[in-house]
Amino acid sequence: MSLSDFVAIVREMEKKSLGIYLHIPFCRSRCIYCDFVSSVGDEKNMDDYVRRLIREIELAGKEYSDAYKVDTVYIGGGTPSLLPERHLLEISRALFDNFDTNVQEFTAEANPCTVDIGKLDALYRSGANRLSIGVQTFDDGLLKMLGRRHDSKSAERAIELAVKRGFDVSADLMIGLPDQTFGDVSRSIDRADALGVEHISVYMLSVEEGTKLDNLIKNGVLIAKSEDESADFYDFACEELKKRGFDRYEVSNFCKGGKYSRHNMRYWRRADYLGLGISAHSLMEGRRWRNCRDFDGYYKSIDEDRLQRLDIEVLDADGEKNETVMLALRLKDGIDVGAYKAKFGSDVFDEYAVALQKNAKYLDIFPDRVSIKDEYLKVMNSIAVDFLK
Ligand SMILES: C[S@@+](CC[C@H](N)C(=O)[O-])C[C@H]1O[C@@H](n2cnc3c(N)ncnc32)[C@H](O)[C@@H]1O
Ligand code: SF4
Repeated sequence: MSLSDFVAIVREMEKKSLGIYLHIPFCRSRCIYCDFVSSVGDEKNMDDYVRRLIREIELAGKEYSDAYKVDTVYIGGGTPSLLPERHLLEISRALFDNFDTNVQEFTAEANPCTVDIGKLDALYRSGANRLSIGVQTFDDGLLKMLGRRHDSKSAERAIELAVKRGFDVSADLMIGLPDQTFGDVSRSIDRADALGVEHISVYMLSVEEGTKLDNLIKNGVLIAKSEDESADFYDFACEELKKRGFDRYEVSNFCKGGKYSRHNMRYWRRADYLGLGISAHSLMEGRRWRNCRDFDGYYKSIDEDRLQRLDIEVLDADGEKNETVMLALRLKDGIDVGAYKAKFGSDVFDEYAVALQKNAKYLDIFPDRVSIKDEYLKVMNSIAVDFLK
């Protein structure tokens, strides 16, 4: 073997792992509760956007492919499954052509109203192996109230098709909705489980300022659940999921058979991720930044071959420790004592002796990890605050 071959092999082995997030800011229509960066676009808008996204992938590939190997991809939005099939294939080709990849998990978000066999096939051929489907609930009345474009039958069909096509399927469910009953939550979990879903994200409704939902509540048309009621819904959903064999591995995320989201785990473990597309966030080697939230600003910078890095933030050591611990405490596996020592050079049991003692009854404390007991996860904020520096 020549010296240059040898150097190339060592370089390859030293590559760091990377997750890539791609944002698709289009939806068929806006749901009344949502304030994600997304708009209703036509095919011309999507063409314009996808062209820039592909250019951004090329620019980022030049900068990062020598030092990183991509092992998770997450295409979210908005509604990625709304994109025409050719766009999905072009984006994926750009990604695989411009980055060094060894992709273990490739998730695409999908709204049931956009899912058919052709779309699933295109997603599969793009490399996606996991589908996160926005079900929200299987109650048709609630779906209508939320402004969703699908009904329970089409959600069911989307899941069936995705499972059949070989995707790992995750379902998003929402709880704490106006008029929602415990029975609805139970039935929704039941149906998702019966359809073969092995991952469920349970999101507590968040009433975002300025949304249609916010106005309807302010005008007394819809009645928001109180904090206590919402907490009861969360407890109830956790119990129902547990009964059906779903393991809670993060505050809002449940899975069977170890099918947790590898990509989202990056966020909770503060591993490197690069966000591409409008409004996407990145965290690379402790540096955090974001892309701008408007199309014009995004297009301008990409057309000038410039990667945006807005609001660059570098945390000091205490800031990094705070974030590491706050995020880790969301996880069932909690703070990884060995990883903490490797990163910060200090011992969790020394650094947090006071917080550990004060919260001992709420915590599972093992030599290699510290986590919040399942039954206290819902009050994790009041526990985690004692770990702040
Ligand atoms: C980008 S969407 C998923 C894909 C697709 N856009 C859809 O809605 O089917 C991400 C998820 O965030 C959740 N979500 C959005 N806005 C929310 C809010 N205000 N409160 C709670 N969950 C919300 C919904 O469960 C939604 O499925
Ligand atoms: S919930 Fe999903 S489909 Fe509805 S507006 Fe938000 S991103 Fe779009």
